[in-house]
Amino acid sequence: MGVPQHVAVIMDGNGRWATSKGRPRWMGHVRGAHTAREVVTYCAQHGVGQLTLYAFSSDNWKRPADEVGFLFDLFASHLERQMDRFLEHGVRLSVIGRRDRLPHALCEAIAATEARTAGGTRLHLRVAVDYSSRAAIHEAFALGEGMGSTRPGTNILPPVDLVVRTGGERRLSDFLLWESAYAELAFLDVNFPDLSIADLDAVFADYASRERRYGAVPVQVTG
Ligand code: IPE
Ligand code: IPE
Ligand code: MG
Repeated sequence: MGVPQHVAVIMDGNGRWATSKGRPRWMGHVRGAHTAREVVTYCAQHGVGQLTLYAFSSDNWKRPADEVGFLFDLFASHLERQMDRFLEHGVRLSVIGRRDRLPHALCEAIAATEARTAGGTRLHLRVAVDYSSRAAIHEAFALGEGMGSTRPGTNILPPVDLVVRTGGERRLSDFLLWESAYAELAFLDVNFPDLSIADLDAVFADYASRERRYGAVPVQVTG
């Protein structure tokens, strides 16, 4: 079956990574941002066309304000520092989710990165920030878009082939529920900052071994 065309990653376990080392949670997020960079490179190099990363859920507003603020600052500085690499590797960056509750400086960094990388054709990197899949589905219905729509302006994406969640939890936490209807699911016990190239190789190899039947009978081998 080859390479998944649309990969979605729930980047979980940053806090536990830090806590297990006696460090503050924000250090886990810093390391997680480094891992996110590696995942983007890996996907670009392996022919993945679309990568969607879950960076901040609408439920993550329940966290302490200083952690939320840190995450937004980290994301904004990450965007600025990655711009040249995005351009070099043909990465187009988009952000999905609500914008109206994000800090102004972050919105500006997002808009600038989206505009400058709009011509990227190798990998479409989407980052989900203040994102809720249930809200996205609800909004698409309210707009009368119909759920087949992937028009710009809605937060409904093309189908996902592979969902990867690190951190040991086996749940989707309101991420791409509609789009993952037939996705393969990979739940890894490793915390996101410790996710390695070998882990990604194993997930991609497992994906390649799956027969995706979409409800049909198995392909018959005749001979
Ligand atoms: C994922 O790591 C990053 C975000 C949700 C922003 P967590 O911060 O959820 O880490 P854990 O799950 O507490 O270890
Ligand atoms: C999901 O992780 C959200 C992101 C990775 C951004 P959470 O840590 O927020 O999810 P729960 O609370 O364990 O379901
Ligand atoms: Mg978590």
